[in-house]
Amino acid sequence: MKKVIVTRRWPKAVEDELKAHYNVELNEADIPFDTARMQYALQNADAVLPTVTDKLDADVFKIDNIQASVIANYGVGFAHIDTDAAKAHNITVTNTPDVLSDCTADVAMTLMLMVARRAGEGERELRSGNWTGWRPTHMVGSKVTGKTLGIVGFGRIGQAMAMRAHHGFGMPILVQNRSMVAPKVLAACNAVQVENLDELMRQSDFVSFHCPGGDANANLVNAKNLALMKPSAFLINTARGEIIDEAALFDALSSKQIAGAGLDVFRGEPALDPRFMEMPNAVMLPHLGSATVETREAMGFRVLENMEAFFAGNTPGDKVA
Ligand code: DGY
Repeated sequence: MKKVIVTRRWPKAVEDELKAHYNVELNEADIPFDTARMQYALQNADAVLPTVTDKLDADVFKIDNIQASVIANYGVGFAHIDTDAAKAHNITVTNTPDVLSDCTADVAMTLMLMVARRAGEGERELRSGNWTGWRPTHMVGSKVTGKTLGIVGFGRIGQAMAMRAHHGFGMPILVQNRSMVAPKVLAACNAVQVENLDELMRQSDFVSFHCPGGDANANLVNAKNLALMKPSAFLINTARGEIIDEAALFDALSSKQIAGAGLDVFRGEPALDPRFMEMPNAVMLPHLGSATVETREAMGFRVLENMEAFFAGNTPGDKVA
């Protein structure tokens, strides 16, 4: 039986399936691996199953006697894995796309509605006992229906977001994407691809980020392009924390240069810039994009499919390196 090390607790149904097919070492205590434990995993397992909370940078791979031949990541984003270093050690890397697109887009919609309609603020007021009753001027927010949504990164999650916003809320869709998007894909929600991010930030009432993280997109959102946004516009991030210069976002929010932000991911999470805690026009969730029973199980089973293909000598469907 192949030896498999899992770095975090997974849904029980998936852990049971793993146990049925592999010699599995689970992380019962669910404490994130440090470097030494990750290196132990690479040296003692045929497959290591990490996730977004693990750091597999070049230094982690600077060890002898690596046994692992596959790193099957639980999650679609894999910027936390140095794929060049993995490849240099002849290790295949896989991820889990598709199965989390709907739920992640649902959370982006949740944030968009919450921040525009001041749902977080409203709930805090009610729970604190400070609600004094209905009045025409009470906690007035921004209408969402019919407003222009700019989507950055038009992969599976970006497209799922566009479908919801366009067909559910009548929102015109603008798209910014590294490569040209096929006309058929744009036509599915009558979307228009713009030249560049500046253009998208300038024209949109909401800007939602669905691009990969990592060095390539670090500080994609910065003081310069935040200044291009309308003062009535909102920014939504369910992608990765590092794509935003958080100090610049804080300044834009506190000076009302933009109207608000909905954030599911943070640079250095779970640690936050404490100043965001006091920011009424920021709605924040603890990285819940894929957090449904259905999706978290589907992600695990997708890892199993990738491993099964790999150990059968085939190319896994979700090989990324
Ligand atoms: C993903 O799949 O990338 C989610 O953000 C969880 O890692």
